[in-house]
Amino acid sequence: MHLSVNEKKRLQERYGDWAIVTGATSGIGLELAMQLASAGFNLIINARGLERLLALENSLRAQYSIDVVTVAADLADSTGADEIIQAANGKQVGLLVAAAGYGTSGMFVHSSVHEEVNMLRVNCEAVLLLAHYFGQRFGNAGRGGIILLSSIVAFQGVPYATHYAATKAYIQSLAEGMAAEFKGSGVDVLAACPGPVRSGFGRRANMQMDMALTPSQVGVPILRALGRQQVVLPGLLSKLLTYALRTVPRSMKVKVMQRIMGGMTKHQRAL
Ligand SMILES: NC(=O)c1ccc[n+]([C@@H]2O[C@H](COP(=O)([O-])OP(=O)(O)OC[C@H]3O[C@@H](n4cnc5c(N)ncnc54)[C@H](OP(=O)(O)O)[C@@H]3O)[C@@H](O)[C@H]2O)c1
Repeated sequence: MHLSVNEKKRLQERYGDWAIVTGATSGIGLELAMQLASAGFNLIINARGLERLLALENSLRAQYSIDVVTVAADLADSTGADEIIQAANGKQVGLLVAAAGYGTSGMFVHSSVHEEVNMLRVNCEAVLLLAHYFGQRFGNAGRGGIILLSSIVAFQGVPYATHYAATKAYIQSLAEGMAAEFKGSGVDVLAACPGPVRSGFGRRANMQMDMALTPSQVGVPILRALGRQQVVLPGLLSKLLTYALRTVPRSMKVKVMQRIMGGMTKHQRAL
């Protein structure tokens, strides 16, 4: 999928001319970085792996003639978000895309608590620090956009991905609250809630991603929704699942998600 010329112009005018993309070297973050580059944004790109960042930097510079700054930093480290903030100094940044994140799966109490804390830092703490800093900066400027990567798992407990779903519930709530506070201020906040997407995510989370969309099927709908909606469910499956469960009591939704996630993680138990 591609952005139309008018859509690129709209994004540039409202959120140019620099965008920050965390998790830019794979999956959804990579797709969003490429689409933004095609719209003429200069980019600050972040991930941990320097080699992939530099390869991406080179290809973006060559293909789109944009300026790119690479920040190789682990967002689980206390200094990670700060390195991105430093890189943004003196630049006209108008858009933050917080895509870095990962999942864990299996019985919650059987997981490594250190790994869960690490995920909490990447999925929540780093997003909090970046959204707070750039939210303030955009608010003072009276313009800007913030895209936070939530998920369809954010709307109820999800057994066998219990803590991952809890981190996404945090992100969903943060985005919704910020969007309402900023309404009418020129700053747009979007919670993007994809269903399964084929990326590096499934391998790291140890989840089987059947019926998954490709990153290119979710990237453009997310960017189109920025400034028009506060929550986007990109792709048919995420809409179907979320709307089908809309009137179902929350406790039942947990059971449905237990079945689905049980299948995805091979932790099916008798319900
Ligand atoms: N894929 C799905 O089914 C799905 C569905 C709903 C929501 N999401 C959310 O969408 C976001 C992107 O997921 P994805 O599917 O694109 O995953 P992905 O393909 O695994 O990409 C993750 C990106 O984040 C970076 N990253 C991972 N850990 C990091 C850390 N500690 N510090 C800095 N960067 C880090 C990775 O690069 P390095 O490894 O080099 O650091 C990579 O660039 C996540 O927040 C995820 O929760 C995904």
